[in-house]
Amino acid sequence: MKKVVIFDAYGTLFDVNAAARNYSKETADINFINTWEKVSKLWRDKQIAYTWYYTSIGYKTNFWKVTEDSLDYALEFYNLNDNKNIRNDLLKLYRKLDTFPEVIEVLKYLKSSKCSSAILSNGTIEMLNDAVMSSKIGDYLEVILSAEKLGLFKPNKKVYEIVNEYFSCDKKDVIFISSNGWDAAGGSAFGFSSLWVNRNDLPEEKVQWKPNWTSCDLKAVLNLI
Ligand code: LAC
Repeated sequence: MKKVVIFDAYGTLFDVNAAARNYSKETADINFINTWEKVSKLWRDKQIAYTWYYTSIGYKTNFWKVTEDSLDYALEFYNLNDNKNIRNDLLKLYRKLDTFPEVIEVLKYLKSSKCSSAILSNGTIEMLNDAVMSSKIGDYLEVILSAEKLGLFKPNKKVYEIVNEYFSCDKKDVIFISSNGWDAAGGSAFGFSSLWVNRNDLPEEKVQWKPNWTSCDLKAVLNLI
């Protein structure tokens, strides 16, 4: 059977710190230059926290709204609101994030090995299309699957189910790859065979479910197919 390899998007294929890092190189705002790493971390942490918040309340929203709201929080926290362009500029950069260095090589190899590669992300289809287009990885992906139509977010199992609906495959035949420990664990909880790409050398999440494999970058998937 054709192997199905599913990638999380943000943090896994696309570097979520690239927006703030790239902005720090083009701005003269010394406050931002000195704090961009902290701003970026808080932006990401709040973005994920808000996805869990809305999903646990049961209120439907989308990932772009959550991305804007979490950025507003981070900018206010670090007193960066005086800079009028910063919000728009960072949001623009979030639509064209850098990919991690090994992404193209891994996707090319999977395509040449006749695997089906796809994205499953909380991101909206528009956000994901922009990121995929600017990084030129569209030719290697069979489909971009998004949680948007559900209005709720991973690790809710309805989001992972989108993969099975699309590929009509057995859960355990899916290799699900995420750099977010909670997402890799969520994939395992759903029944996927999951690979946690632990890019930042973090401790494993102390939850009931564990990833099947752990690695430091995406290249580990090449040994699994
Ligand atoms: C995503 C987030 C979780 O792409 O990184 O779904």
